[in-house]
Amino acid sequence: MGRIAYVNGRFVRQAEACVHIEDRGLQLADAVYEVWALFDGRLADAEGHFARLNRSLGELRIAEPMSRAALTVVIREAIRRNRVRDGLVYLQVSRGVAPRDHAFPKTPTPPGVIVTVKAVDRAAAEAKAAKGVGAVTTPENRWGRCDIKSVSLLPNVLARQQAAEAGAAEAWFVDDLGFVTEGAASNAWIVDADGRLRTRDTNANILRGITRFTLIDVIRDVGMVVDERPFTPADAYAAKEAFMTGAGALVTPIVSLDGRPIGDGVPGPVATRLRSLYIERAKATAI
Ligand SMILES: Cc1ncc(COP(=O)(O)O)c(C=O)c1O
Repeated sequence: MGRIAYVNGRFVRQAEACVHIEDRGLQLADAVYEVWALFDGRLADAEGHFARLNRSLGELRIAEPMSRAALTVVIREAIRRNRVRDGLVYLQVSRGVAPRDHAFPKTPTPPGVIVTVKAVDRAAAEAKAAKGVGAVTTPENRWGRCDIKSVSLLPNVLARQQAAEAGAAEAWFVDDLGFVTEGAASNAWIVDADGRLRTRDTNANILRGITRFTLIDVIRDVGMVVDERPFTPADAYAAKEAFMTGAGALVTPIVSLDGRPIGDGVPGPVATRLRSLYIERAKATAI
């Protein structure tokens, strides 16, 4: 069975799905997106992702395409039609279709909405996490509003390609002050040389990862402490552990950075435990 996409009010075969060539998302990256992990057909961290979607739309003054309830119905129907139990839901909302011009259209246009669903092989993902992945560092070169989940992702694309060419899975951006901001598609964490769990604070120019927020809750619930203090690549090289979080990665151990092993060069106990605690929480609260 081929995949089914929701595009501007209709469910269509994904292979035949199209958008207008003057959709502003296509021509100007004038669009935002969200990604939910799916566990047993249910949306993980649903509320956080919906809230961030509305925030991204609000910051860019793109109209909400429909109510949260209606969007939930559309997403659920997309999941059902694709018969996916474990996977990812992708939602994109553009400012709509208008003759190409950088400024907003004078007459407001209906937002363009796309929903796709893809299956994830959780057993393969577990095997990957059990082995850990590599990461590389790269200079931060993104705009100043990384808190908005915009589809304008060229720096992230180039960073991920740099990682891929180095045989790594993720790239960590390093800002002008020499601190790691986040990954190309995930938030960055270490267990530093003193055993402190560190990740960049959300006043920095990073995406406020929903997985990050849930994981901080989980960490506090088990009596551990998170230190939201910036760290440098040198801190990471000397760290006991490193890992990344995101709707796709969940919690994935990073076992090397720029080709140097982190800790023993295998997934550490903290990342391994946090991955299973996060998945347990995500499954228990998915809707
Ligand atoms: C740049 C960036 N940072 C962080 C994340 C993690 O965010 P979340 O946990 O909400 O998926 C993502 C996810 O796509 C991302 O693209």
